[in-house]
Amino acid sequence: MSKIYITTAIPYVNGTPHIGHAMDYLLSDVYSRYHKMSGDEVRFQAGTDEHGNKVFAKAEASGLDVNDYVNENSQKFRDFIERLGVEPTDFIRTTDKDHERRCQMIWQKLSNHIYSDSYEGWYCEGCENFVTEKEYSENNGICPDHQKPYQRLSEKNYYLRISDFKEKIRSAIESGEMKILPEFRAKEIINLLNDSPDVSISRPRKNLSWGIPVPGDDSQVMYVWLDALSNYITVLGYPEQDISEWWPASVEFVGKDILRFHAIIWPAMLLGLGLPLPKTLHSHGYILADGQKMSKSIGNVVDPIEVLDAHGRDAFRYYFLRHADTFMDSDFTWEKFNNAYNNELANDLGNLVQRLTTLISKNNIAYHKKDNNFSPAYVEAMNEMNFNHAIEHAWSHIQDLNKAINEAKPWELAKNGETEKLTQALTMFADKLLHANYELNPFLPDVAAKIDDIFSSEKITPPATPLFPKN
Ligand code: MSP
Repeated sequence: MSKIYITTAIPYVNGTPHIGHAMDYLLSDVYSRYHKMSGDEVRFQAGTDEHGNKVFAKAEASGLDVNDYVNENSQKFRDFIERLGVEPTDFIRTTDKDHERRCQMIWQKLSNHIYSDSYEGWYCEGCENFVTEKEYSENNGICPDHQKPYQRLSEKNYYLRISDFKEKIRSAIESGEMKILPEFRAKEIINLLNDSPDVSISRPRKNLSWGIPVPGDDSQVMYVWLDALSNYITVLGYPEQDISEWWPASVEFVGKDILRFHAIIWPAMLLGLGLPLPKTLHSHGYILADGQKMSKSIGNVVDPIEVLDAHGRDAFRYYFLRHADTFMDSDFTWEKFNNAYNNELANDLGNLVQRLTTLISKNNIAYHKKDNNFSPAYVEAMNEMNFNHAIEHAWSHIQDLNKAINEAKPWELAKNGETEKLTQALTMFADKLLHANYELNPFLPDVAAKIDDIFSSEKITPPATPLFPKN
């Protein structure tokens, strides 16, 4: 039995959850369920990132008090997690008092690597980040991710001396001590690391009031990324408690846009604190809508609640875990989603269960469930955290089984009174279905539990309503 610590990026609460936010949660949840089924002990953090200008500006625009605004939106992410069937063990908010106090302690522990200087540069409020002159001119003065002009900011800042840690970070990435997935992103990070300047880790309070005060300097507030990244260890109690039971994280799930913060600033902070680096940084791609980035101005933002309402949470999980690429950008369209639901969930799996249970029940076959375990190919895919491969492997059992039933024609065995052969065939099919179901469990927990229940009962009967009803 091992101890596994899984972390997810904490979304800004400057809006409601969208389908893209589901990716971190779903990947983490599958990995967590897989490890729990393998007998490991899992700690799994999720939470919300609540400080910074971006959140503050939205709160002001909404007319709500900023505290009420963040409370309301943080709760929406919590509700979303629940609706997805995602089960973190911890939920941290960066406005939690424990987190704020621990962040200030982290700052103090890092003080040997912090200096103050004045800075003038181009800042994107959407990214909460300064960009280099080169990036500024390449993007013609407009942030490509947020379509907003960069602001010229000139201010006194505290800096974290990234240069103290560059060599160590590079060697941790190259040696695989801190593995980056997918591998090609490791090369991008090494290039960025080579050019990486020291990072500004504070803002003057006059420019940013909504944040954690810098200890010992009332005029400064902590940079939102320093505050946010710390959540992965403050949630475990650091530095007030010994976190060695759980830290280093087994894997941190993040989107490709924020990998650089996790692969450069975060390791620098950890090294400065004398803590080990996460074992794996797993970065997923973006979910696009009809091939385009979702944006309110284009009007193509897909509401995850609508998708959940359409066919329930297992269908949602299935689509994003199988048809969204684990590592690269992927498209969501209602057509693709409905096809996956009808052809795969309803036909391949739903009908299979219906058919097999009907045959077993009609022919009075006594069936006793056997113990199951994961196939080697599935375990390999899970170890590589390639969740597409893992679910495809599980699904190949379903497809093979449909084929095998069509070929064996058990209904003819029944008609010809070949009871022994029929019992053998149906028992084998049920065993295979339950093996596939065992592997599908981390992906489709609700339906997997239903199938398991059906085949655990004394007298097997078909589900009263189809597992995946068609509209
Ligand atoms: N608050 C920071 C993360 C701090 S982690 C210490 C942040 N928040 S975010 O709300 O912008 O993004 C949260 C997560 O959602 C990130 O992993 C991000 O990559 C992911 N996604 C946001 N939009 C996405 C898509 N359209 N598709 C897939 N994931 C995307 O960054």
